[in-house]
Amino acid sequence: MRMIKIFDTTLRDGEQSPGCSMNAAEKLRMARQLEKLRVDVMEAGFAASSPGDFNSVKEIAETIKEVSVCSLARALKSDIDAAAEALKNAVEPRIHTFIATSPIHMEYKLMMTPDQVIDSAVEAVKYSKQFVSNIEFSAEDATRSDVEFLAKIFDAVIKAGATTINIPDTVGYTVPDEYVKFITDIRNACPALDNVDISVHCHNDLGLAVANSLASLKAGVTQIECTVNGIGERAGNCSLEEAVMAMKTRIDYIGADTRINTTEIMGTSQLLTNITGVRVQPNKAIVGENAFAHEAGIHQDGVLKNKQTYEILTPESIGITEKSLVLGKHSGKAALRNRLNELGFQVSDEELQVAFEKFKKIADKKKDVHDSDIEAMMTKEAIQVPKTYTLHRFVVNSGNTITPTSVITLVKDNRKVEKVGRGDGPIDASFHAIEQIVGRKLHLEDFQLQAITEGKDSLGDATISISEERDGRKVVKRGRGLSTDVVEACINAYVEAVNKLIHEEDSGERIHAQL
Ligand code: KIV
Ligand code: ZN
Repeated sequence: MRMIKIFDTTLRDGEQSPGCSMNAAEKLRMARQLEKLRVDVMEAGFAASSPGDFNSVKEIAETIKEVSVCSLARALKSDIDAAAEALKNAVEPRIHTFIATSPIHMEYKLMMTPDQVIDSAVEAVKYSKQFVSNIEFSAEDATRSDVEFLAKIFDAVIKAGATTINIPDTVGYTVPDEYVKFITDIRNACPALDNVDISVHCHNDLGLAVANSLASLKAGVTQIECTVNGIGERAGNCSLEEAVMAMKTRIDYIGADTRINTTEIMGTSQLLTNITGVRVQPNKAIVGENAFAHEAGIHQDGVLKNKQTYEILTPESIGITEKSLVLGKHSGKAALRNRLNELGFQVSDEELQVAFEKFKKIADKKKDVHDSDIEAMMTKEAIQVPKTYTLHRFVVNSGNTITPTSVITLVKDNRKVEKVGRGDGPIDASFHAIEQIVGRKLHLEDFQLQAITEGKDSLGDATISISEERDGRKVVKRGRGLSTDVVEACINAYVEAVNKLIHEEDSGERIHAQL
């Protein structure tokens, strides 16, 4: 069977999408899950873009053993130095260097001639070669580049040592048949491509990222670049779960497969949602809430008689199981540790103690504690931001004939500070009270509240993004709160976002290198 390599860029291109930034602990957790999912390569980040990104690539490179770990680098020695240093302890390091090749990018963005672009690319690959043998070269905006020019630059970088050549549809512009012809034309003009991996990296601006990636297999492509839930710049990247499950389900026609452990797909998708707070649309293929829901009576009737009438893949094949109920208030520490291990959390004795206390609080309020409650609880535990402010108590007064008020007491440096806020509702009033306590001008960017698991006693899961102006720049931070009381969940989410803003201010700003 023809095996296609899956290059996951959730932690790099995916992380570039609004609202999807992750801290180092969150990225490491995601990286571990990608290893379980069995991607072939994971792009852990862009080491040169900030000290935070550098450390995160380094930590992932030192932890992940079964998957090749990669860092992005512009065709610049300083970027390649940072990537090589961050990857130096990886079992199978890959440097992914790139430069734009389309006339518009070369003229207006790079302000370089085509010959200068070729020289930079060759120099970058040769320079990378002294650190690693596994080198990917990407021609940014390839689909709006000239075929002859691409053939020339690919020939040159392959001679310099590139082992994978990526032909990205950076702006999501191409369509399937055109892409197949384009890649075939480049291959005909550059026979050296027969000796390396050929990769595609498709953006979803026209909703064609998955279709283009799958079509490219007809042109002999050996690697697909994608992200979990299809997150990524603008409209996102090729969705990993869609590309993988399309190959698996239509293996009869496509004739290609991957080494992905598909039963980890749902868990990976949910982990990303838990970490970022960015949910997938309910009708999203494969991992959307409704992907396996049969609503129409005629469909339900058919499925009851024979599932295959309307189901082309099974929920089990992507890891959806019936088993969701796990623990209750009488469960002990050993049972919690056992369940945590099954869910992929390795905890020390001290961490187990912290988790157990948290679990007991949830179990006291809820009858049944589900996997998703535990996932949410642990993901929150992993957020290592100093708790400058913590909630001491809150009292809300609300109704349809009064102006809602909220009295909030937060603790900072062992000192209690209390304020009263008024608002359109108890949550709005609470946010105003917090704003007064922290003395900052904050703007609410995004607010999502949903119940995790079913039932009246389910946990309220609040995700809040707030922003503040700093030196003419908008800084956005996201916080998450969980509680059986939705107002408390919202207050905790808001306080966490405030703590993140303060932490970033204290530890220096993240500088995003310009791509
Ligand atoms: O979209 C793109 O072209 C990229 C490159 C850096 C591969 O993300
Ligand atoms: Zn991209």
